[in-house]
Amino acid sequence: VAEVLEVLSKLRKSIRLDDRELRGLVDLKAEPVQQGALLAGLMRQKYVSRDAVVQFARRTKTLTALYKLLNSGRGQLASYPGAVISRWGKLFGSIVSKRKAHPSIIRNCVSDIVSKAVPNEFVGAFLMLVCRFGLQDRDVLELTKAMSASGETFDYRKDPRLRHKRIFRRYPTGGVSEKVALILPSMIAALGEERPLMSPFLVARSLGFTGGTWDKLSSIPGFRFPEPGPETLETLVRCGVAMSVTHGAFNPADRILYQMRSVTDTIDSDPLIVSSIVSKQIVVPCDLLILDVRYGVGAFLRAKERASIVGKAMSDLIQECGIKCMMTLLDTYEPSGVTIGNALEVSEAITIMKGESNDLFDVRLQATQKNIVIDFAAKGMAFLFPEMSPSQWAKICQSKFTKGDIWRHFKVLLGAHSVTQGTIDQLESDSLFLMRDCQQYEVCATKAGQILAIDQEELGRTVNFELGGGGNEYAGSRDLYSGVILQRKLYDYVKRGEVIAHLVSTRKGMEHKTKKIAAAFNIS
Ligand code: URA
Repeated sequence: VAEVLEVLSKLRKSIRLDDRELRGLVDLKAEPVQQGALLAGLMRQKYVSRDAVVQFARRTKTLTALYKLLNSGRGQLASYPGAVISRWGKLFGSIVSKRKAHPSIIRNCVSDIVSKAVPNEFVGAFLMLVCRFGLQDRDVLELTKAMSASGETFDYRKDPRLRHKRIFRRYPTGGVSEKVALILPSMIAALGEERPLMSPFLVARSLGFTGGTWDKLSSIPGFRFPEPGPETLETLVRCGVAMSVTHGAFNPADRILYQMRSVTDTIDSDPLIVSSIVSKQIVVPCDLLILDVRYGVGAFLRAKERASIVGKAMSDLIQECGIKCMMTLLDTYEPSGVTIGNALEVSEAITIMKGESNDLFDVRLQATQKNIVIDFAAKGMAFLFPEMSPSQWAKICQSKFTKGDIWRHFKVLLGAHSVTQGTIDQLESDSLFLMRDCQQYEVCATKAGQILAIDQEELGRTVNFELGGGGNEYAGSRDLYSGVILQRKLYDYVKRGEVIAHLVSTRKGMEHKTKKIAAAFNIS
């Protein structure tokens, strides 16, 4: 996966492939969705000869048909109806020529994706083209509407048992080592003791180099996400929070596109980010959504200005759909925590919830993460229950940590998500229980000096694509227990050969991967 992603990333950014990469294209082991994205990306590079593209397209009948469709807007594929192929030709044509597509084209193409009426290669090409050419504003709206209409709407406030409760949720745009979604749900459950409050708390899978709470929680033995609908309702009644994912009829279009974007390096696209995030929020309405927009070197949205524009576009769309949305902007100049990787991040979050310190996790970063949770919770509570100010709510939120309520509610949440009492007891007695079968490999500083930068994207990519942390249905196997623990922070001084991080893996013989991690530290 890592090798294919590197080529895809260059094609998306129009960085020239070197001769070795160009020659290797025909033998590259790529999934069908990746092949489609590769073809669409290759066809747009002026320096790549027609012969090279044709040779690539000859790999399979589907790619040959896709090539014709991308080239002339016409094509056929024996096992797919002509009408389907024709609308995909029109869709590709409108993206490349930067014209608005007919709304019915977008709607029908999204249905094709969900019903699997088109091969994955076509979807890969679509994603790559949207990354390269963007989408017209009206088409972003149509795509968002079509994605949300691909499933059902779940308004849990309609249930008579929950009618009096307010729904509060937070959703992020993504950042490295970001753990709010592991801690805030228990804070909301704890605040439910103060005011009528609940949260179908949406979480997603790893995306590109960033982690996903869906995968993180999946590393806890037995953890089960309730199906949308009655099962989620029961979980809400039982513990006030239901960790919700795009299962079943909850936005199946996003379930597919999201994972495909992760393995085709087609994440960094405003229309795809906006449609993915907004389409999920509007089908699970709430009384307040905090849209946690991250920017900088640990996020997809690098520049603050772009993050602010994209965040505002999302927040406006969400509000137009009747959901109150509060946007926050946070810089990711250093990783939010010291762990990168699913089970590792759960372990770090558990120590924060317990208020426990140990040698592995930096207390300074633990405090920062705790403060972000308190800040979000206090802002949300002051909006929903304005009889107290944000600072008054912040004091209450702080006390929820000190009194042990956050950890207590997390244990209830685990139980309500099918985790056995035995596992909960293990986590109670050992916060690092999930890592019990892992090997640790030392990563040492290559020279003495001050850590001036940490390449979070590189670390995230290594964990997600080389160690298997970000594996999904389209990206082969997953290893939820691999990752990296940072032992030094940005601006720390280090000696040559000093341990600056640990690579953690369930596999033996991973010493060779430590060099890549060491190289992510810029020491000078
Ligand atoms: N989170 C999402 O759900 N979608 C994106 O595109 C980015 C972050």
